This record gives sequence, structure tokens and C-alpha cells, in this order.
Amino acid sequence: PSVDVGAYFDLDRGLIDRTIFSDTALYRQELRRVFAPSWLFLAHESQFSKPGDFFTTYMGEDPVIVTMGRDRKLRAFLNACRHRGMRVCRADAGATKAFTCSYHGWAYDTSGKLINVPNGEDYPAHFDQEQWGLIEVAQLDTYKGLVFATWSPEAPPLRQALGGLAWYLDAMLDRDPEGTEVVGGVHKWVLEGNWKLAAEQFASDWYHVNISHASALMVMSPTGKGPKAEIVQTPGRQYTDPLGHGHGFPTHPKSRFDDRVVHGHYDYDVLRERLGDARVEGPMTTGHGTVFPNFSYLPVNGSIRVWHPKGPDKMEVWAWTLVDRSMPDEVKDAQRVYNLRTFGPTGIFEQDDGENWSEVQATAHGFVSGSMTLNYQMGLGLQTEDGIHPGTTGHLYSDGAARGFYTRWRDLMNTPAWHEKDS
Ligand code: FES
Repeated sequence: PSVDVGAYFDLDRGLIDRTIFSDTALYRQELRRVFAPSWLFLAHESQFSKPGDFFTTYMGEDPVIVTMGRDRKLRAFLNACRHRGMRVCRADAGATKAFTCSYHGWAYDTSGKLINVPNGEDYPAHFDQEQWGLIEVAQLDTYKGLVFATWSPEAPPLRQALGGLAWYLDAMLDRDPEGTEVVGGVHKWVLEGNWKLAAEQFASDWYHVNISHASALMVMSPTGKGPKAEIVQTPGRQYTDPLGHGHGFPTHPKSRFDDRVVHGHYDYDVLRERLGDARVEGPMTTGHGTVFPNFSYLPVNGSIRVWHPKGPDKMEVWAWTLVDRSMPDEVKDAQRVYNLRTFGPTGIFEQDDGENWSEVQATAHGFVSGSMTLNYQMGLGLQTEDGIHPGTTGHLYSDGAARGFYTRWRDLMNTPAWHEKDS
């Protein structure tokens, strides 16, 4: 049975019941109605250069293999053998001609076809090998190097699903005519916290920066005077997308990259011509964003990451460093090191965020503390079309994109997904 989650929200007044972060039944419904029908980030195209290259990841809690077929086409399959459900690929990444199940030996090629069944002569005549290939996602597509997929045959095309966020995302993905690539592998770590805490924060929360990251900002302050001089009441905007995405960004007349080497790499006149002044002075600065539901990014740090749900109380963070393809190697490396120093698993900012989410989750286990009303009222009624940035934006310090994120979440949770409808 599905739960009507409407009672947990009064978004017009900016109020949310904390139950949505800890309830196990809601979590199961979330996997069915939020993750299964949504476009989910899988990998970056640069992780696949030749047929047979593969990468294993998750869509919600479903394990999947992303692989390049002999036709050089990317496909994604459920990483579960059709015989007894064993994981057919137990490596994180690599190259192969076939995925052979280590339980009884069924083998699948890189287009998902079942190509070998040991003791096949013992199966009945009506066993049709053709029907027992790996289960493939309903749709897979890429947006400027980012690979997404969905289980829903009814989901709108990826570009449509990204909505107005694409304009903002391009401030990170489209600086270079050659596109982007990922460097330095994938960093993975586990946090005791509900995945929405992280996704919501990356969509909408600049508010915490001055306080949570005060000591990190002190260390990185070029003036040595701490965060006050640079960022308290930073001017900026926050974009709220009706599809649940969000992007907050300080506005800065010159744009800037905190790392000296990366900053020096860019010709800002060329960037302004390519992306326009509003994008260079806004979404390209030290901001943050989330593609609903669980893909987030930091344009200046080059961090792209997925918040994999692992139960209501736990998430696994997978993070990559994104660079422009035409950057010289030393600039790519500077970007990588800067990202790791700030938002790698031991990054000085990442530590603060992870501690907040774990602490928040730890206090959600009690009956009273777990069902209290939370305040999402910041910036309520202050969002407008400013004529500079497309769509609806508000001040940088706002819960606007969080309210948008939960509006989308609530609506999906209350809508039967394609797999629940009568055929
Ligand atoms: Fe894979 Fe039996 S579970 S061959």
C-alpha cells in the first residue's frame, strides 16, 4: 500500500514534517515512485572509450552495469542474473567481452544478451535463451557528457526532464567547445544520513556556508580575516525549477575560480562570449546545484556527485572531479587537487556537511524529535523573475529551491508510477 504524503507538507507556509526523512515505509515508496520513474545519473561518457568498458553503479538501490557495446553504444542493465539474481558483475569498473555469473555460469554479452547457459541440454524445449537477457533500462541518454537513465518508458526525454536547469548546468558543462571529462577516479564514502538532506542542501542551502564552514573559510581566506570579509551577506541568486532542480550562486562581477591555476587558465572574454555575462557572473561562480532527485554539482570545485540511498538513515556518496577536456594536464590536476582539498571525502568543507547530516539524522530517531515540524520559510514570497536569470529565482539565502525539491518529491510520491498502472 502507498502512503498519501500530503499530510507531511504545508509548503505554502514552508512547513515539512520530519517523518519524511526517517520512515521506512516512505523510503520503500520513494524507491518505487521517486527513483524508479526519474532520470538518474549513472556515469560520465569519458569513463568509456572502447567496446567492453564498463562501470557498475546504482539507480536507487538497484545495482546496474553501464557498458559500451561492440557498436560503441552505451547501455545500462540491472546487475542481476536472470537465473537466481546473483550480481553478474562484481567489479567497480573495467573492460570485458562478457559478464559471466559466478554462481552457475550464465554469461551475457555487452548488449545484455544471454550467450551461454551451462548444461543447457537439461532445460526444457520451451526455454528460450533469447528471452533471458539482462534487464535493460527503459531509456538512456546523455547531456553534455553526463550519462543518465530511467526505468520508466513513460519518462519525458532527458533534455525535457532537465528543464530550465540546463541553462544553469551549462555554466559548468559548456565552457569548453571540446566538452568535459572526469579525472582521478570515483571517490565513495558512506554517511549516516537520509539522501534528501544532501540533495536538498545542494539545491538550496547557501545559508549554512557562513556558519558551518566558518573555520574552513578562515583557513582559505586570502585576507586572513576569516569569512566575514568575503561572504557574509554575499550577493547572489537561487534558481528554483518546477521539476525539483535547484542552483544557488553568488554573483560576482568578474566571476572567479578559487584555485589560482584554474582561474588563470580561463580567458574570461571568451567565456563571456560563449556563455553570456549573466552566466559567467552568476551560475559559474562558487555555487551549488542539484538535478532532481540525487545528482549534485559544484561548478567551481568541479565536483559532481550522486547521493545513493541506502535505507532511510544512510547514503553512499560517489563523487568525481569534472574538468574541461582542453585544459592542459597541469590545470586538470590543479582542479582535481582543489576539489579533493575542499570537497573530497576528507575535504575541509565536505567534513562539515557530512557531520551536519549525520547529526540531523541521529536526532530523528525519537518519536517526538522524528515527527516535529521543520522550517523551510526562508525567502517565502520573495521569488521572482529577475529578467537576468531564466525562470524563477530568489535571493541566494533562501529555502526556495528546497521547497521546489519537496514539491516535486511530494507529487511523485502521491502519483502511481508507470509500473503501478493497469495495463
Ligand atoms: Fe547466475 Fe545462477 S544465479 S547463473
